[in-house]
Amino acid sequence: LRNRKLIVVSNREPYMHIRQGKEIKCIMPASGMVTALEPILKACGGLWIASGSGDADRETVDAHDKVLVPPGEGKYTLRRIWITKEQEQHFYYGFSNEGLWPLCHIAHTRPVFRKEDWEHYCAVNEQYAAAVLEEIEGEVEPFILVQDYHFALLPRLIKERRPDARVAIFWHIPWPNPESFGICPWEKELLLGMLGADLVGFHTQYHCNNFLETVNGSLESRVIWEHFAVKIGSRLTQVKPFPISIAFTLKDLEAESGPARTEATELLRQYGISAESFGIGVDRIDYTKGLTEKFLAVERFFAQHPEYIGRFTFVQIGAPSRSLLKSYSDTISAVDAEAERINFKLKTKGWQPILLLKKHHSHEEILPFYQAAKFCLVTSLHDGMNLVAKEFIATRQHNDGVLILSQFAGAAHDLHGALIVNPYDTEGSAAAIYEALEMPEARQQQTMSGLRRTVMRKNVYAWAADILKSMAAING
Ligand code: G6P
Repeated sequence: LRNRKLIVVSNREPYMHIRQGKEIKCIMPASGMVTALEPILKACGGLWIASGSGDADRETVDAHDKVLVPPGEGKYTLRRIWITKEQEQHFYYGFSNEGLWPLCHIAHTRPVFRKEDWEHYCAVNEQYAAAVLEEIEGEVEPFILVQDYHFALLPRLIKERRPDARVAIFWHIPWPNPESFGICPWEKELLLGMLGADLVGFHTQYHCNNFLETVNGSLESRVIWEHFAVKIGSRLTQVKPFPISIAFTLKDLEAESGPARTEATELLRQYGISAESFGIGVDRIDYTKGLTEKFLAVERFFAQHPEYIGRFTFVQIGAPSRSLLKSYSDTISAVDAEAERINFKLKTKGWQPILLLKKHHSHEEILPFYQAAKFCLVTSLHDGMNLVAKEFIATRQHNDGVLILSQFAGAAHDLHGALIVNPYDTEGSAAAIYEALEMPEARQQQTMSGLRRTVMRKNVYAWAADILKSMAAING
């Protein structure tokens, strides 16, 4: 970075302060974007600008709305932006999560576009631009990393006023084909906003191609296919894949002493379940994650292999998310009802097929589940990357265990050796559960050690280095 200021901008903040009785607790929210970016800021220092969302957030910042984080370590600064309830409703819930989220994820939930949501989306992007511009005053060629679909307009707003700034936008979710994206009434504005950046990043080349084709069909611009770049007037924007990852390093690997893991039986016993083993799923409760599809596969597995009844349980950790939106509260009810239906049908005294733990869990709380599970099951109907898959791999110090992964998650492009499933195919997913449970130890070891090497080699530090190098190279 050579003394240049690094600024990350996102909607979701990495740390939320929340009130619990008389105390203020600091928690990290359930967000793949946060999981990935936080270690980078911890390593490089810098400033992270994000919306304050905890009920004690205002009490924990200084007069400039800043707080040093992580608590007790103070490695970088978090500047909180305050958006009003009305802005939250239209910018966050409305345009971002009822418009762009379903638009980009092909999960058969119809996007909703309202003029009022769009106007607030524009206003919040302006508000963030003002904060970034204030922070980079006097800084020479600062690096600004804009995160995700909440801020498509931000790159242009920054670059227009500070052409010397190096701006990248990383889109953490998929980019659909041009026909799908074209239904958005503000397609052109969004594209022009993003193309204000020097660099537009996606997880996969496929999403880059979809983006370039969308630009090609919609704007008066020149797509330079051989360089994966877009030229508007004299401005050039590079479009590149950067598959995101987690903070798993050689040092972590060497430090592993293989601490005794909590026994599966013991973990289950805490929930009154007696079984020998379990499989694990960890997701935000979101219609893109294929949770009811996952439970149907578990049900089918028990129907085909009744010898596992009473011996195996599937544990799903589900963090409620965006639950003010009907599409999300409906998903929570549907997931709940499906687990209940299957449990009612199959449960026996002291045993149940599915354990649904429906609350936010910290990384520390999830760890023993990852470590003791026989397999991890990811059934996203569409997902940019999916870091749960990579987190599970990183925790498998004994090189055992199996990852079952949806073919529709970006991670399926990286993680060769996982059992790949189509989550819409209940039979196929049920068969993969059986295969995982019956897989010989030697094959587990061979596959998992390979996967661990892949995740370590392509960790999030490599991801960040790649993006920063590309940003430096473009204008330099
Ligand atoms: C996805 C998005 C992130 C977002 C996360 C959690 O991973 O790409 O930007 O933070 O979901 O969603 P939330 O709306 O709670 O921030």
